[in-house]
Amino acid sequence: MKVVNTINEVRETVKAWRKQGLTVGLVPTMGYLHEGHASLIARASKENDRVVVSDFVNPIQFAPNEDLASYPRDIDRDAKVCEENGADIIFHPTPEEMYHKDFSTFVNITGPSEELCGKSRPIHFRGVCTVVSKLFLIVSPDRAYFGQKDAQQLAVIKRMVRDLNFDIEIVGCPIIREADGLAKSSRNTYLSPEERKAAVILHKALEKGKELVLNGEKSAKVIIDTVTQVINSEPLAIIDYVQVVDFPNIKVVEDINGDILTAVAVYIGKTRLIDNFIIENGKEK
Ligand code: PAF
Repeated sequence: MKVVNTINEVRETVKAWRKQGLTVGLVPTMGYLHEGHASLIARASKENDRVVVSDFVNPIQFAPNEDLASYPRDIDRDAKVCEENGADIIFHPTPEEMYHKDFSTFVNITGPSEELCGKSRPIHFRGVCTVVSKLFLIVSPDRAYFGQKDAQQLAVIKRMVRDLNFDIEIVGCPIIREADGLAKSSRNTYLSPEERKAAVILHKALEKGKELVLNGEKSAKVIIDTVTQVINSEPLAIIDYVQVVDFPNIKVVEDINGDILTAVAVYIGKTRLIDNFIIENGKEK
């Protein structure tokens, strides 16, 4: 397992693999890897001959008031996680390697990027789609792996791949949770012990919402009100949004008829956490 810092070296390595007829999986990450990332890497390694993990805190998906500077970073720890889960190389570029000083080309997606996190973080998905397109062009993988915790991101990437004809299979993977239900996230490391306890409210609230949907509730408002009420019972929680949208189009719905995503973004102290559930064909995905 090797850490590679330049675009050229990744390209040369992948070219050599391709000459041998090997398939390539890509796991795009911002590093500080946890069990959620490990599950993506392990799956990629099962389904491909070679695996590239990108480990890059992408500055253009953060607004100036967000946590770019404090985002946790530990490449040595990440290298261990990658090695243990079957990755072949970590692509760990500098921002200068990825973005020329007068970089001016962006991938701007409308549609599924407009609700939920797209409302709270207006430049976020432009930054994500731009860096993911660059990674796709640098690595040329057969498959790329994304977690369902970022369900909107998964829908956005699938739409982008369809619209721009990237010849890459996008594989969505289940949310990995702590024992008490909190979704694994690199941002969980920001939480104080008291906040960590409070953070479980996202999962508790979504479980309540999910139970209603699975028992046949058809009103999005009832789901939103119930989830909101549970989250508001936790004094440390401040809601950014609670929303029900159709999946994968990410359009707000009033009545639950087809597949839906119920998503929340909640501040616990200064830390913004997201979580969700998807109901597809009447069952949890
Ligand atoms: O999900 C993430 O960690 C990031 O948004 C991604 C896809 C690696 C792009 O920077």
